Amino acid sequence: MSALLLYCSTDGQTKKIMTHIANKLRQQGYECDVRDLTAVHHSLNLSAYNKVLVGASIRYGYFNKVLDKFITQHLSQLNSMPSAFFGVNLTARKAEKSTPETNAYMRKFLDKTPWKPRLTGVFAGALLYPRYKWIDRVMIQLIMKMTKGETDPTKEIEYTDWNKVSEFATKFSKIE
Ligand SMILES: Cc1cc2nc3c(=O)[nH]c(=O)nc-3n(C[C@H](O)[C@H](O)[C@H](O)COP(=O)(O)O)c2cc1C
Repeated sequence: MSALLLYCSTDGQTKKIMTHIANKLRQQGYECDVRDLTAVHHSLNLSAYNKVLVGASIRYGYFNKVLDKFITQHLSQLNSMPSAFFGVNLTARKAEKSTPETNAYMRKFLDKTPWKPRLTGVFAGALLYPRYKWIDRVMIQLIMKMTKGETDPTKEIEYTDWNKVSEFATKFSKIE
């Protein structure tokens, strides 16, 4: 079995999650091709793989634009093969906003996209204040204050639940 694993990641957390999934899939005998979707400049040949997984993070309410471009370009192929999608954001750190049905970014995306992934997931990302540009740090602090989260600008916190990521990898290995 072969899988194409595409990620859109700005600060590295979605890439880290995808790498974790790739390692799990390889343990199950999968051949995995892990690629940065923002660095893919030509049309990908999805038919060369048995399955496709895409993961992307949220910045200021939106997934990276390359995600829509990729979906438009490969829609019929995506919908005719086993495919899956996961989103990463900080809102998902709250249990009641941590499923594709209860996470607003995922709901909005899945409602609008013509892509029908056979499996969807949402994972909490990382909060990395010291690594952000000052304007991003101030904005994230504001958002975290409004949502009763961490506001200490010296903190780096990983909210990702790695067991949940492993479970998702197992589910992905079983989709047909
Ligand atoms: C500039 C910036 C904007 C963000 N905007 C949002 C947001 O609107 N909603 C949210 O839930 N999380 C938001 N996040 C949190 C990211 O989704 C989270 O940090 C994630 O781990 C980033 O993944 P990446 O490193 O793969 O890009 C934002 C983070 C940054 C740095």
